[in-house]
Amino acid sequence: MLPRIYSDLVEWYPMLDPVEDHADEVAVFLAAFDQKLVGRNLTLLELGSGAGNNAFYLKQRFKCSLVDLSSAMLDLSRRQNPECTHIESDMRTVRLGRTFDAVFVHDAICHMTTKDDLEAAIQTAWEHTRPGGVALFAPDHVKETFKEGKTTQSASLGDRRMEWTEQTVDPDSDDSTYNVEFDFVMRHGAETWDLEDRFVLGLFPRNTWMRLLEDVGFKVKVQHCPFEGFESYEVFVCSRPQE
Ligand SMILES: C[S@@+](CC[C@H](N)C(=O)[O-])C[C@H]1O[C@@H](n2cnc3c(N)ncnc32)[C@H](O)[C@@H]1O
Repeated sequence: MLPRIYSDLVEWYPMLDPVEDHADEVAVFLAAFDQKLVGRNLTLLELGSGAGNNAFYLKQRFKCSLVDLSSAMLDLSRRQNPECTHIESDMRTVRLGRTFDAVFVHDAICHMTTKDDLEAAIQTAWEHTRPGGVALFAPDHVKETFKEGKTTQSASLGDRRMEWTEQTVDPDSDDSTYNVEFDFVMRHGAETWDLEDRFVLGLFPRNTWMRLLEDVGFKVKVQHCPFEGFESYEVFVCSRPQE
């Protein structure tokens, strides 16, 4: 089942994750792609593209195809990226029958909570990356760099206002998951209510990532990409060798 913020509460999502917050991060991803890809009219597939906040910047460099499980999130993306192709499907099983110069999987990869799911998403990326192309995986955490934390934030959009705490916890450090727990206070016009939304997300050691990526055939480089609040952030830059 999808979290409510990706489904019936999707109109609130732009407050939680504004498009402007993606500009600096996408610049880092574009630089990583630029080290490996040259040329014009490059194509990119994003798996778990959500509201299309990455695509909003990626489309300046790539012709983008965007896959997401949530029709409501795809609708948000269609509004800000009408020129992109949108496909409602599951990153573990989708097969588009074509390849791309680049495949990108951002924080949506954290929704892979078992090794089998992560392996399936990696297989999808491999099958859609052309020989000589690049896939980039950017999980929020790997096990070695994971830290628990709590933040409090607020945002307004039109006549909606939202205040929330976001708590990141790992109740069982021996399993492959962690939790992100949101406690929202939502206001719409004169109405106010509380709401909880809980995410169970995947957390894997760096060497599990490396093994799964190399097993399908990628040549992998781990790239350290520090950000404010994400000082230990790292991404997996995966080249598919020429045949
Ligand atoms: C945090 S959002 C991604 C936001 C995105 N980075 C952006 O730029 O807007 C995570 C997304 O992953 C999607 N998702 C979760 N599981 C998925 C799956 N198995 N296949 C495809 N998309 C999935 C959710 O529907 C959600 O839209």
